[in-house]
Amino acid sequence: MGLFDKITGKDAAKGTSVPRGLVVYDSKSGNSEKMALAIGQGMQQNGVETKVKRVDKATVNDLMDVDAVVLGSPTYFANMTTKMKDFIDKSIKIYPDKLADKVGAAFTACDGVGGDLTVLAFLQAMLLHRMVVIGPESGGFGVVQIGDVDDKCLADCQAFGNRIAAFTVALEAGKEKLQVTG
Ligand SMILES: Cc1cc2nc3c(=O)[nH]c(=O)nc-3n(C[C@H](O)[C@H](O)[C@H](O)COP(=O)(O)O)c2cc1C
Repeated sequence: MGLFDKITGKDAAKGTSVPRGLVVYDSKSGNSEKMALAIGQGMQQNGVETKVKRVDKATVNDLMDVDAVVLGSPTYFANMTTKMKDFIDKSIKIYPDKLADKVGAAFTACDGVGGDLTVLAFLQAMLLHRMVVIGPESGGFGVVQIGDVDDKCLADCQAFGNRIAAFTVALEAGKEKLQVTG
């Protein structure tokens, strides 16, 4: 029995809809891609059916189909890449309410300067979309990897994915009671 079944008392195997997630990322030399995959794996492990898509393959409509959205990219001059910014700018067509009350989280790979700012830039856009943003249990705004991805980073990303999924499942199960949209 998965986390969703435990919380809702429903049986996902019998066709009850399971929460869905999407990780959208950009990456040139592979670090952010490894992080995206590890976060996606962590979400999947904890009861959220998750797809991981490179930003070129993702559309803004994809965001509307899921309950949790994770965005990440390398840090370029203390910000996200142009492709990720362009993707976010395209989401104006579903602003302000289509992503409301969905879970959001972010991550970045960098060499040591400005990673937090990149993550915060993602979170700012999510908050403007009225999303519910989640940071890692260990603190900070999102997972910020300095240097090439190693085993510790992958474990941190997986744990972050587990946490994002746990909140997604709990929020989806409780939305009726909260009487919120989304
Ligand atoms: C155009 C450009 C700008 C960058 N700017 C920063 C920066 O502001 N701060 C930083 O710490 N690293 C910076 N980096 C380094 C990358 O963020 C880092 O190498 C990252 O791990 C690359 O991720 P990727 O493997 O997913 O492409 C920059 C790299 C490039 C190519």
